[in-house]
Amino acid sequence: MLRQRNRRNRLLVLIFLLVNTILMLTIVVSRKERSSAPNIISKTIILIRTSNRCQARLTYLLQSWLSSSLAQQSKIYLFTDRIKKYTDKRVLKSFKTIIETNCSETHGRFDLCCKTAHEFDFYYHISRANPDIEWMCRFDDDQYVNLENLYQLLPQFDSFSPYYIGRTSLKHRLKVRNHSHTFSFATYGAGVCFSRQLLARLRPYVSKTILPYNCIEQRLSDDAYVGFLTEVILNVTLTPLQELFHSHLEKLDMSFRQFSFAYLRQAITFGFAWDRYDLSWLPIIHQLVELVRKGEEQAAERLWLFLRNYEKEHPNQSVYKHDQTCLPPQTERH
Ligand SMILES: *[C@@H]1O[C@H](CO)[C@@H](O)[C@H](O)[C@H]1NC(C)=O
Ligand SMILES: *[C@@H]1O[C@H](CO)[C@@H](O)[C@H](O)[C@H]1NC(C)=O
Ligand SMILES: *[C@@H]1O[C@H](CO)[C@@H](O)[C@H](O)[C@H]1NC(C)=O
Ligand SMILES: *[C@@H]1O[C@H](CO)[C@@H](O)[C@H](O)[C@H]1NC(C)=O
Repeated sequence: MLRQRNRRNRLLVLIFLLVNTILMLTIVVSRKERSSAPNIISKTIILIRTSNRCQARLTYLLQSWLSSSLAQQSKIYLFTDRIKKYTDKRVLKSFKTIIETNCSETHGRFDLCCKTAHEFDFYYHISRANPDIEWMCRFDDDQYVNLENLYQLLPQFDSFSPYYIGRTSLKHRLKVRNHSHTFSFATYGAGVCFSRQLLARLRPYVSKTILPYNCIEQRLSDDAYVGFLTEVILNVTLTPLQELFHSHLEKLDMSFRQFSFAYLRQAITFGFAWDRYDLSWLPIIHQLVELVRKGEEQAAERLWLFLRNYEKEHPNQSVYKHDQTCLPPQTERH
């Protein structure tokens, strides 16, 4: 098992080097600067949720879609539950802003809803001083986010209208007691964006002193509860973008292989996990996205074929049964 893992790690490093070489050798012909609405970056806040137990994941984010330059993180905020127990202060220093929620570290419903409430509260806090903020998008720490694609998408929507954008979690619609309307919700694990108009309407329902308790009362997970508030209470329908937002719940071993290159390049998020593509793939996927961004179509397609064939040729190496990037609660280091 260990040997297999080492071999696999060596192969990943090899792929990484290979891609870097392709990147260096290829001459950037015409760097296609795609137009996105002016200042969309400064009008969008990006929240990333992590947990003290999962700090190993942060390195992968910094090696991929998240710039390690603090200057480029001006609207990017990391939310964690506890800071004190972090062992690696160097990783922490790579983030411009870290918000410590003090929510408990379990995956229980109350704690997740606590984290969700903190994300909303933070938006209301920061938008007071920055009235130009139009969007709040929140992601998990096990995702690849193609920020450029995100910034292309958002200006297509009017943030003065209520928009709730993401990936529908379940095929069926949910129902709760005392409400006849059914609802769907955007799975938090695929990333979700809220327009300022929707955020303003959600405000009475999502503070730290209300939301976690109501989540429990309705017996809903944090993302389902947000869907309930949005669709049932506020009568705002989710804008489902199934082709652009992806979570690890999709079973990447199925979906990734079925992705075409065209599909890959337009996607906004990918979920990574322990089931097949673990987080050590993030830097490689990022290199692929960078090749596309630089107009290196052929190199990108070659790399894509290589990755798909790699998987076919090493079917057993990429299967994991558990997540290696998070510590189980009982072995937490203090
Ligand atoms: C969490 O606790 C720390 C340490 O006591 C404190 O500095 C921080 O402000 C708290 N966070 C919130 C959101 O209250
Ligand atoms: C549903 O309605 C009943 C009767 O009005 C009330 O006692 C109960 O608390 C409500 N449940 C929820 C989850 O709102
Ligand atoms: C909910 O929204 C729909 C379409 O936007 C509208 O037709 C309907 O009347 C609204 N329902 C309520 C109760 O406001
Ligand atoms: C791969 O896994 C399958 C099922 O677990 C097993 O039957 C097969 O022998 C394995 N192949 C190799 C090359 O280890």
